[in-house]
Amino acid sequence: MSILVLGGAGYIGSHTALELVRAGKRVVVADDLSTGHIAAVPDGAKFYKGDLRDRAFLDGLFECEKIDAVIHFAAYSLVGESVENPLKYYDNNLCGTRVLLSSMTEHNIGKIVFSSTAAVYGEPENIPILETDRTVPLNPYGETKLAMEKMFYWTARACGLEYVSLRYFNACGADRSGSIGEAHSPETHLIPILLECANGKRKEISVFGTDYDTPDGTCVRDYIHVTDLAGAHISALEYLEGGGKSDIFNLGNGVGYSVREVLEAARRVTGKPIPAREAPRRAGDPARLVASGEKARSVLGWQPRIPDLEEIISDAWRWHSAHPDGYAE
Ligand code: UFG
Repeated sequence: MSILVLGGAGYIGSHTALELVRAGKRVVVADDLSTGHIAAVPDGAKFYKGDLRDRAFLDGLFECEKIDAVIHFAAYSLVGESVENPLKYYDNNLCGTRVLLSSMTEHNIGKIVFSSTAAVYGEPENIPILETDRTVPLNPYGETKLAMEKMFYWTARACGLEYVSLRYFNACGADRSGSIGEAHSPETHLIPILLECANGKRKEISVFGTDYDTPDGTCVRDYIHVTDLAGAHISALEYLEGGGKSDIFNLGNGVGYSVREVLEAARRVTGKPIPAREAPRRAGDPARLVASGEKARSVLGWQPRIPDLEEIISDAWRWHSAHPDGYAE
């Protein structure tokens, strides 16, 4: 079985490509390397550099490679940037997916697993969040991901395509080998920023908001190991291969940790003081985001293997301490 991983040089894409190679699949990675890293593409995967919006590139790829299914990670994903530059997000995330779907249907490729996000829910109405809960995104990033889900829904109905949309909560950690990990520029995510403080690259962490309606006043999130996310894509592919119908699944551990709890865990794991200062709320942050992962467990048979926060941070720390400059060296 040949799998095309679009955006397979990025953080979650590269971890998924690696798990697919380990599972013995034939893996083709395509990435424009605008935010991804060639060094993150696993040995054993064939690589193509190109942009999703380039129809000739995609048509050429589908004509050269016999692809059975696609996993689609190729999207911009910074919430703050999406608010400042919404058209960049509409252009890449939506136009790219439109071109992809028309090329896939023309080449009779009928299965796709798609990376969506908890950002589609906006401010949640219930905790834990169910897939059927209201979706009211608070930013263009979440809006474009929700619109992409709808594009899959309507295309599936019209063209017989089957898709699985995976709504990730807070992806974190790194492959246990220490060979690949999280490297964004600029970095905006909590755990890598804490680890940049631990390895001396940053002076301190700003804790954004200490007056939320949560037990310690800081935001609560559901942190899920990137290798567990990668495993969920393989489960989703197997589900589609087995005749499963198009569907949407949350991916989280179902346990929430506050920013202060993550800070304390990072201090314990690294043994470093990690100076922190209280700062105003960051715009657009919901107080609590915790998944119900029940549906993914019961329908896909997916079970996170590394739910422990300290183990997750410890895997991330192995990568960050060995690669303080990410993939730059
Ligand atoms: N935080 C800090 N200081 C920092 C960075 C983050 O206090 O320097 C806090 C944030 O305010 C938030 C928590 O740490 O409360 C987690 O923040 P991240 O930036 O790591 O992750 P988000 O929860 O903002 O992002 C996640 C997903 C996005 C998704 C978003 C939906 O990574 O894909 O949830 O709100 F869009």
